[in-house]
Amino acid sequence: MEVVKTENVTRTYKVGNVETNALRGVNLSVQSGEFTALIGPSGSGKTTLLQLIGCLDQPTSGKVYVNGKDVTNLNRNQRADIRAASLGFVFQFFALIPTLTAYENIEMPLLLAGKSASERAERVKYLLEMVDLADRGKNRPDQLSGGQQQRVAVARALATNPALILADEPTANLDTPNGKQVMEVMTRLNKETGVTFIFATHDPRVIQYARRVVTLQDGLIVSDSVAEKVEAVH
Ligand SMILES: Nc1ncnc2c1ncn2[C@@H]1O[C@H](COP(=O)(O)OP(=O)(O)OP(=O)(O)O)[C@@H](O)[C@H]1O
Ligand SMILES: [Mg+2]
Repeated sequence: MEVVKTENVTRTYKVGNVETNALRGVNLSVQSGEFTALIGPSGSGKTTLLQLIGCLDQPTSGKVYVNGKDVTNLNRNQRADIRAASLGFVFQFFALIPTLTAYENIEMPLLLAGKSASERAERVKYLLEMVDLADRGKNRPDQLSGGQQQRVAVARALATNPALILADEPTANLDTPNGKQVMEVMTRLNKETGVTFIFATHDPRVIQYARRVVTLQDGLIVSDSVAEKVEAVH
């Protein structure tokens, strides 16, 4: 199944009189279960593309489909509904709620989705185990390492069982061992739950985990390749 499709997507930003063509006609199709890296130089349009796929922004022209649904012209509320139902996000700066524990951060999307207390408890416990943090549920973000915080963020993104998780530079603020742990957790979740990942990154250590690498340059896809050494890496 096609989780994401963009058709001739452009995005032009206007600041004062200056226009920037951040995307200039992007056609991308991502199938369910993919583990795909979006790479390219700074300013090539990676974050812009993730924001369009994530229904956080709308294209200047072209079309965006998520789970087969045309999301191009949805209003703000409709886009929020798509995000809640189908999408999970992992950001560079983790974006956890500082006053809540790891457990409560992961629970938050389940509360918003109206899940019962017992469903929430079962799910959070499962997710904490999936990201190797079963013993850290009571810690607040400032009582966790960067890598642990990012794994909480990954668990939170997965909480409501989204079809797709979008991650923008998920390891940019992590050292090598922590970045590796986060990538290993994402790889395992992808394999075990089949959730689709698209992650933007500069980091060669992250790129090696990808099974498909899409390269953007100046707002266009300039290469799209399936990793050769998949079996060797995983
Ligand atoms: N909100 C905005 N307003 C105006 N211009 C923007 C905005 N967001 C991005 N741009 C411009 O659009 C282009 C693409 O930016 P984008 O953030 O998508 O790049 P990126 O590939 O994610 O870069 P990086 O690797 O540095 O994160 C850049 O030239 C940037 O300056
Ligand atoms: Mg970016």
